Amino acid sequence: MAEQSEFDTYRTAMRSLRGVHETSARAFYTGLRHRRRRIWIGSRTVLDGAQRIAVSEGGALRIGLGSFGLSSEHDTSVVRVREGASFVCEGVVSLQRGVRVVVDGGRLSIGHGTNVNGVGTKLLCAQEITIGQWCTFSWDVQVLDNDFHAITVDGVAQPSVAPVRIGDRVWVGTRAVVLKGVTIGDGAVVAAGAVVTKDVPAGAVVAGIPAKVVGRADSWA
Ligand SMILES: CC(C)(COP(=O)(O)OP(=O)(O)OC[C@H]1O[C@@H](n2cnc3c(N)ncnc32)[C@H](O)[C@@H]1OP(=O)(O)O)[C@@H](O)C(=O)NCCC(=O)NCCS
Repeated sequence: MAEQSEFDTYRTAMRSLRGVHETSARAFYTGLRHRRRRIWIGSRTVLDGAQRIAVSEGGALRIGLGSFGLSSEHDTSVVRVREGASFVCEGVVSLQRGVRVVVDGGRLSIGHGTNVNGVGTKLLCAQEITIGQWCTFSWDVQVLDNDFHAITVDGVAQPSVAPVRIGDRVWVGTRAVVLKGVTIGDGAVVAAGAVVTKDVPAGAVVAGIPAKVVGRADSWA
């Protein structure tokens, strides 16, 4: 039943995407390949490790299914979940066309209603990235729980990996970067271009490099 209504959502979305030249008939048929796993693909996607993606009962992972004015049918999404790693979708999760989601290790978890815009946005997980419900990530955002290189000081390698935890209803503006070890509280807003290196309190608006609190948000829409 839930799968049938997801299919209807998928078909309707694909029709409107065709209308604005953001997908093709071919993508429609190839996109159905992972429907049994509740993964619905609307446009060109490289998907490795689909068997390591867990979608909760009644949920769905929608990849490249939204009509997104910045992209075209030529933009490719990349979702890679390597052996030993996992990607958990706790409800309906949308990744828009052109995202790069790479789970090299550990666990990436995204909550219900969260939308990750495409074209340049990267989520790179080596240990743990947890994202809550109803969050929005703009285009060209990066979330990294690792530095990819370790700095050594006085012969001691500094930690280069630490979990990132992002609460519910967090809005991350374009070109923001969220670095390892950061926790962002519920309802926070990360301004465009911010580099978040420290924890962000719930309901705070942070901006700048490094990101500092510049205001508060009771809500955003
Ligand atoms: C975060 C944001 C929503 C705040 O908007 P706002 O409430 O109107 O905030 P203000 O413009 O009043 O700014 C408050 C202060 O923060 C500073 N500030 C706001 N955004 C900033 C940014 N991106 N970088 C650095 N400083 C910023 C302002 O200069 C101001 O500083 P001041 O008090 O010293 O004058 C907005 O600045 C922003 O970054 N929007 C991102 C939009 C986006 O990426 N959309 C993509 C679609 S998802």
